Amino acid sequence: MAIFKSLLVALTLSAHSVQAAPQKYTDVVNCLASSNVPQDYPGSSDFTQDTIPFNLRLNFTPVAYAVPKTVPQVQAAVVCASKVGVKVNPRSGGHSYASHSIGGEDGHLVIDMKYFRDTKVDPSHNYIATIGTGARLGNVALALFNQGGRAMAHGICPGVGIGGHVLHGGQGYGSHTYGLLLDFLVEAELVIANGSVITASEKQNSEVFWALRGAGYSFGVVTNMKFRTIPAPAQNVLFYYPYSWNKTQARAGWDAWQTYCGGYTTPQIPAEMNIRWVLGKDSGDNLSFLLEGAYHGSNDAFLTAIAPLLNALSAIGGYQASTRGVGPHQLGWLDALLYANSNGLYKDWDNGQTLDTPVNYTAHAIMFAKSLMTDNLTPAGTDAWINRLYATGPSNSRNWYFIIAAQGGPTSVVPKVPAGSTSYAHRDSIYEWQIVDAVADGIYPNQEGIAWLNPFITDIENAEKNVTFGMYYNYADPTLGGGKAAGERYWLGNYERLAKIKKKIDPGLLFANPQTIGT
Ligand SMILES: Cc1cc2nc3c(=O)[nH]c(=O)nc-3n(C[C@H](O)[C@H](O)[C@H](O)COP(=O)(O)OP(=O)(O)OC[C@H]3O[C@@H](n4cnc5c(N)ncnc54)[C@H](O)[C@@H]3O)c2cc1C
Ligand SMILES: *[C@@H]1O[C@H](CO)[C@@H](O)[C@H](O)[C@H]1NC(C)=O
Ligand SMILES: *[C@@H]1O[C@H](CO)[C@@H](O)[C@H](O)[C@H]1NC(C)=O
Ligand SMILES: *[C@@H]1O[C@H](CO)[C@@H](O)[C@H](O)[C@H]1NC(C)=O
Ligand SMILES: *[C@@H]1O[C@H](CO)[C@@H](O)[C@H](O)[C@H]1NC(C)=O
Ligand SMILES: *[C@@H]1O[C@H](CO)[C@@H](O)[C@H](O)[C@H]1NC(C)=O
Repeated sequence: MAIFKSLLVALTLSAHSVQAAPQKYTDVVNCLASSNVPQDYPGSSDFTQDTIPFNLRLNFTPVAYAVPKTVPQVQAAVVCASKVGVKVNPRSGGHSYASHSIGGEDGHLVIDMKYFRDTKVDPSHNYIATIGTGARLGNVALALFNQGGRAMAHGICPGVGIGGHVLHGGQGYGSHTYGLLLDFLVEAELVIANGSVITASEKQNSEVFWALRGAGYSFGVVTNMKFRTIPAPAQNVLFYYPYSWNKTQARAGWDAWQTYCGGYTTPQIPAEMNIRWVLGKDSGDNLSFLLEGAYHGSNDAFLTAIAPLLNALSAIGGYQASTRGVGPHQLGWLDALLYANSNGLYKDWDNGQTLDTPVNYTAHAIMFAKSLMTDNLTPAGTDAWINRLYATGPSNSRNWYFIIAAQGGPTSVVPKVPAGSTSYAHRDSIYEWQIVDAVADGIYPNQEGIAWLNPFITDIENAEKNVTFGMYYNYADPTLGGGKAAGERYWLGNYERLAKIKKKIDPGLLFANPQTIGT
């Protein structure tokens, strides 16, 4: 794969230097050099290596690639781009599904924050943690735990960068209990389009702080952040219950799930329960449904809490006792994070075997994904997606999977934060859907794959009387179109307010990718 990418870079780069914008290319590289901003020179092996995106389906070639180590160097890089007239994209962990952190199109300046990776907890100030935006989730979790047994709630894969993750949400095995990662953010330092450094918090630049918590990529380069932390939960139960179901069973399973997550059972799903489905191909016309998650509490409390759902599923049948990772495992915090990541879907993926992740990290997928944020579906909406799934899933031999997580709902902490307090727009949704079509290697069949996934959304929305559900920028989907079309999905009713703030602090649209706010 790396060889394939190098060839591609060499080809597109020479096309660039010859035709596209030779003057801009040399101007920005020279400006960075004369401002002493560390950079990977286009054409160098460092440049080739560093510009490889997470999603190899979407390769783009930047005109220049800054790798700053200090905040003044970030400022200098922003000023260079502004002077020369090239667009800027900050990059933290590089995990954008749309490759937005290398521009989302050719010809941008990337500011790679990978050397801003320290995590420092201050025990004398409520264990507030200062974290460099290029740190990765695995390193952050280790560092927090090692400095006073602290933790935050965030996503599962250790290679995900905290920068992109927190600025647009940050959902995982702790969010139903403790909230989204963005609800832990208390302050951010950022370099804005005119090259100034500002601090954003509830007290300072509070409009920008509101915008950063949901739509951060459009407003500047975030350099360092402060977070509140919590004592790491001592008891964590990781669980995996696999089922193999035909369509009738899947339909019944979905009803049981909505009854449980929607709060219609007694006892109710408790706040401590973090739960989701991972579904994919199985054998014949059956599909596999893996019920997995994390409960923060004792094993006994977990068994009581999960009983209403397991009892309902047991009446449906199809339980696969012999499959990987079956049953509950009670673990300490770091072991639970590692276990979550080295079992279930993420086995061997995204550095699956360790939390400690290197500075230069290269995990890859070749994929197209969509997201959807929904409430409980009506019977018509349920039929719509399950019918399509069973009509088309068994014959799709690519590596497709759906993940449907109960991040909201009646007992979740997520909707308890007032809806207007951050630009994140999906607190009212119970379920976060991620639907993914991927290939293990080679070229992804764009037309076929995209044409497979888009109708799932249309079918559900039509059946739900043409409602427009929200989508999640952390699973960015380039087929949604430009800034406004995509933005009204990602930020719903918050879009216009975001566009006004964008106009104020970045009127020239310096921070831009094809889905930037205000375009
Ligand atoms: C393997 C994998 C697992 C994932 N698991 C989860 C999960 O469990 N839960 C979940 O919620 N999401 C998950 N995601 C999605 C993930 O949260 C997003 O892709 C996130 O944006 C990645 O952040 P990053 O810093 O790694 O990405 P990048 O590609 O570096 O950045 C993503 C976006 O944020 C912008 N950005 C990055 N850094 C900065 C900065 N310093 N200042 C301003 N803007 C910045 C970029 O320009 C880009 O638009 C997963 C993604 C992958 C690939
Ligand atoms: C990371 O990669 C860069 C560029 O490819 C290289 O110069 C640097 O030495 C690497 N750093 C580490 C710590 O491996
Ligand atoms: C940059 O923009 C900020 C916010 O709009 C403003 O406060 C500051 O004065 C500007 N700085 C310069 C050098 O123009
Ligand atoms: C689905 O599986 C159930 C349980 O084995 C079985 O009773 C039912 O007949 C099956 N339905 C179809 C349509 O195959
Ligand atoms: C599909 O599921 C049904 C019901 O659980 C089961 O009876 C049947 O053997 C399964 N078929 C295959 C091919 O696994
Ligand atoms: C929803 O939209 C579709 C396509 O535009 C249309 O055919 C259908 O009648 C609409 N359904 C409802 C319930 O409004």
